Amino acid sequence: MENQEVMREFQKWLGDNPNFEQNMAFLDEFQYLMMYYRSAIKEVQTKLEILADELSFKNKRHPIHSIESRIKKPRSIGEKLIRKNKEITIENIRNELRDIAGIRVICSYTDDIYTIVNMLTLQDDIVLIETKDYIKHPKESGYRSLHIIISIPIFLSNQKEYIQVEIQIRTIAMDYWASLEHSLRYKGAVPSEVFRQLEEYAVEIADIEEKMLHVRRYIEK
Ligand code: GTP
Ligand code: MG
Repeated sequence: MENQEVMREFQKWLGDNPNFEQNMAFLDEFQYLMMYYRSAIKEVQTKLEILADELSFKNKRHPIHSIESRIKKPRSIGEKLIRKNKEITIENIRNELRDIAGIRVICSYTDDIYTIVNMLTLQDDIVLIETKDYIKHPKESGYRSLHIIISIPIFLSNQKEYIQVEIQIRTIAMDYWASLEHSLRYKGAVPSEVFRQLEEYAVEIADIEEKMLHVRRYIEK
């Protein structure tokens, strides 16, 4: 993103600050920090691809269906800090937000999720900061997914920086539900009966997944 574009996204908050020099210094630091997050995403992405590659050889099937990644937009960064009653500073961006770098891993089966997460988090340069298991404990909405926050070193010209990355790991079926539910929410307030229905469908999808897993295990015997 160009400085101007980032400036426009932050304007709502920085607009009050008449100090142009200060704003420009902030933007430069912001861009520098985003480079850290982009680098961290590349590191994690490569680790995941290597694991996927090796497991495909070993097991003759692909545990990872696809990998998506994103950097949180300046506007969302600003909104989230404001929601937390924090000033928009480089320090707060770094210390208060853990989902600036986000990776979504879509697996084929539920057991693949735990295999991949265990293998990744056992690597000795990765620090596991937090795990939220919405598969064992689905959200009230019906949402299922495994979320972890990790910290990973990136190597720069004269220092090593540990950067946090949020990884959401879910199956194709969980992702199907989450994508549609997400877009339905964006259409406006979801009536409570629809909310209940969606939760029921999440359970049905989980049942089908379980059956598909049994089929795979039967075939593999
Ligand atoms: P945030 O402040 O939103 O990051 O919440 P949090 O820090 O408590 O994180 P949480 O582990 O609950 O995950 C938030 C992310 O998970 C969201 O940005 C969505 O991508 C996803 N998510 C959580 N709940 C739902 C849900 O009910 N439906 C869908 N579609 N996605 C969800
Ligand atoms: Mg989050």
